[in-house]
Amino acid sequence: MDSPWLLLNASFGFLVAVALVRFIAFVSEVWQHRALMRQLQRAGKPMPPHSSIFGHLLQAKVAADELPPGAHSCYILDRLSVKQDRAEAYYFDSYPIAVPMLIVTDPYLANQAMNHPWTGAEKPATLTEWFHPISGRGGLNLFTENGQEWKRNHETFLPFFNSSNLDATMPVVVEEMVVFRDILRKEVHSPNTFCLEPLTLRLMNDIIGRVVFNVELRNQTSGTHPLSETMLRQLRLKFASNNVVDNLGQLNPFRKLQIWNNGRILNKHIRAHIENRVEVFRSAKVQDDQTAFNSLLDQALATYYSQSGRQQSETIDGEFMTMLCAQLRMFFFAGYDSTSGTLISLCYLISKHPEVLAKLRAEHDEVFGRSVAACPDKIIESPAILNSLPYSHAVIKEAMRLFPPANGIRTGCKDLVLKSRDGTEYPTEGVLVQSNHISIQRNPSVWVRPLEFLPERFLVGPEHELYPPKGAWRPFEFGVRNCTGQAFVIKEVKAFLSIFAREFNFEERYDELYADEKVDLTNVYHEKAFLTEAGAAHARGGLPCRVSLSGYTS
Ligand code: HEM
Ligand SMILES: *[C@@H]1O[C@H](CO)[C@@H](O)[C@H](O)[C@H]1NC(C)=O
Ligand SMILES: *[C@@H]1O[C@H](CO)[C@@H](O)[C@H](O)[C@H]1NC(C)=O
Ligand SMILES: *[C@@H]1O[C@H](CO)[C@@H](O)[C@H](O)[C@H]1NC(C)=O
Repeated sequence: MDSPWLLLNASFGFLVAVALVRFIAFVSEVWQHRALMRQLQRAGKPMPPHSSIFGHLLQAKVAADELPPGAHSCYILDRLSVKQDRAEAYYFDSYPIAVPMLIVTDPYLANQAMNHPWTGAEKPATLTEWFHPISGRGGLNLFTENGQEWKRNHETFLPFFNSSNLDATMPVVVEEMVVFRDILRKEVHSPNTFCLEPLTLRLMNDIIGRVVFNVELRNQTSGTHPLSETMLRQLRLKFASNNVVDNLGQLNPFRKLQIWNNGRILNKHIRAHIENRVEVFRSAKVQDDQTAFNSLLDQALATYYSQSGRQQSETIDGEFMTMLCAQLRMFFFAGYDSTSGTLISLCYLISKHPEVLAKLRAEHDEVFGRSVAACPDKIIESPAILNSLPYSHAVIKEAMRLFPPANGIRTGCKDLVLKSRDGTEYPTEGVLVQSNHISIQRNPSVWVRPLEFLPERFLVGPEHELYPPKGAWRPFEFGVRNCTGQAFVIKEVKAFLSIFAREFNFEERYDELYADEKVDLTNVYHEKAFLTEAGAAHARGGLPCRVSLSGYTS
């Protein structure tokens, strides 16, 4: 009769022991991080006032309280720099929320980190944890992998991003944008304010489904494809809330279980889909199967089967399948979320700058001709036409400067000490280096008229005062780990502007949905559409707006 009792006791004892070991490990981590900070502080390195117990958590809390609710953590880091007399870099220890970092707000220093042979190529392990629900496979994917593994997998997908393949994707991109245009045309008849972002997310979902997997997900029109449903559910679970208390829910075992189970279902769908595509590929039907472009999936299969010694008669091995699943899940997220955020920031800025809109329209008239209706077909016929839109390109760059959707992060090392022009040294051993894009891209010592929306700054030569210094514009980061998708993003967003800028007027209506008199926007640069925390950074509230037909004719 004793044995179940003993067993229970033994397991209880075991659990207590495990908890104790974990607790001790945690305390020793805290101690280690705090000690490193004290050492840097003694050496006179810049940082906010540091507490041996709380690190910089209290300072971060004070900074966060000075921001409107929901504001993205990039503004907290920005605010902490401003409070230190606009420190060009400073150390920040928010452990256990994140490991200690060197926050960089100046391009001269950021360039040194991103171009360093080791640090410039090394993503931190903590990013891997962050990605786990998104990509599965412990969070390992092109975004987070390092060394040989990264190099091999990077090369597997790289040909997808060559310019001719990207041009060949434009017809499906435009096709989805035409669906979006028809949805907006219906919206103009409604007198109500609505939020634009859910619609741009669905648009990007459908585009990315075709570009990543050759699947028509149809979230814009019917919205029940299991692949995107499971993926979107997973993202919702991960980004359930941007409120700190609710984020404690991440510790909730049921949430973990849900994420795990959902990930399992997602993998099942993706695997089945990959297997079908492998069959198509092996029977060499890919070429005559509709598409003139290689999707990311097709490209991975092409690379796989081109490796020497591999027969088309073999099916793919398990390791490759697992890798592919994780990468496709990552691409789905990377390709969908931040691009939608960019479209929204663009619409917001254009709605506030009629002079920019007028110039955009003039450029589109010139390049596509006066018929707005004919524009989508013109892009489909010759996607390279998108390369001759310098003003549109400048508008996109300027929007991404003011509202960067993502930051850059690397692992520091002993060998890398950042050195500013005045000789100040910033050791990076034991910390992560974060390039805080909003701080760099609105930095008044780097940019002339930093808070103004002036696309012209990207069209002037080096002799002009508006000409941006090297590395000042970095929404896609630099160095070997820069964004693989950037050329695709620019093409897509140019197509978006070309199709929508002339036909519609967007009018932001924040005041209708938010009682802004109660919210202090001072520390988010007075932007009603300030960035909020939701995967990539997204404009607050998904841009409440009204859309009308512009009636524009040139
Ligand atoms: C507006 C849209 C986008 C923005 C602002 C953006 C931004 C970024 C940034 C800043 C990084 C580097 C992160 C770091 O340095 O720590 C990155 C990496 C990456 N992005 Fe993007 N991205 C966008 C869209 C896309 C798209 C559409 C794709 C693919 C279809 C993509 C694929 C990737 C990949 C694979 C990486 C990892 C690169 C590597 O480490 O080798 N991104 N992105
Ligand atoms: C670009 O990639 C596509 C497939 O992804 C390939 O068929 C084509 O040959 C590549 N072109 C160049 C110029 O590398
Ligand atoms: C698109 O997907 C989301 C998430 O699964 C869903 O809530 C939405 O209803 C879908 N859109 C349409 C038009 O059905
Ligand atoms: C971006 O990364 C690629 C691949 O590692 C590299 O070849 C290229 O030079 C990088 N570009 C920039 C501007 O850093």
